[in-house]
Amino acid sequence: MNKDTLIKEAEKFVRLSVSRYDSGHDWWHITRVRKLAGRINETEKLEDPFIVDIAALMHDAVDSKFYGENSEHRYKNVRDFLGKNSLGEIEERIIHIIKNVSFSNKLKTGDLRDPLLFIIQDADRLDAMGAIGIARAFNYGGFRNNIIYSPVEAENKHSTINHFYEKLLLLRSMMNTLTGKEMAAERHLFMEAFLKQFYSEIRLSE
Ligand code: ADP
Ligand code: NI
Repeated sequence: MNKDTLIKEAEKFVRLSVSRYDSGHDWWHITRVRKLAGRINETEKLEDPFIVDIAALMHDAVDSKFYGENSEHRYKNVRDFLGKNSLGEIEERIIHIIKNVSFSNKLKTGDLRDPLLFIIQDADRLDAMGAIGIARAFNYGGFRNNIIYSPVEAENKHSTINHFYEKLLLLRSMMNTLTGKEMAAERHLFMEAFLKQFYSEIRLSE
């Protein structure tokens, strides 16, 4: 199979695997991450662009938040897919990316200095920042029926605004590549501006 056909097969496989996620984790998230990863790799020249494409496409193929106890079975599906499509050679690298890309996964394993992981992680994190990141956060909060914000501290712990402090504002300093850092800077400032405006509107209602 040539590379274009392999990419098409991977696209089909991934479209199906993300169909059960919330719309912030949908096919368009995958597409954005793929483009961002491609752009980072273009400047950093760390990896074969084909491998970056496949890794970006597959990065959310197993998400324990959505697959829960079926994750092991899911990993097997991913391995079967790669094996069947003569991608056996990069199977371990792709599994490694899926296992380690997530911000919330605390059980990281293997080589965490893998340049491929650096690229995909940066791309995935960029898509959680800026205007898109804000949109995704409130979309996810709505999907979970979380509150937007509460002036009562104990309640606010479960709000989407609180997610900015638990994750979104930390991402800038977690970027791996120089290109990722540069791209993150603008998105970070935008989130800060958003919060500033949010609080000024809240104050008016107090
Ligand atoms: P990762 O794949 O890095 O673990 P997540 O799957 O946790 O990231 O998050 C995916 C998207 O959903 C991100 O845009 C993230 O900010 C958003 N998200 C995750 N948890 C929450 C939450 N509790 N409230 C609002 N948004 C969230
Ligand atoms: Ni992702």
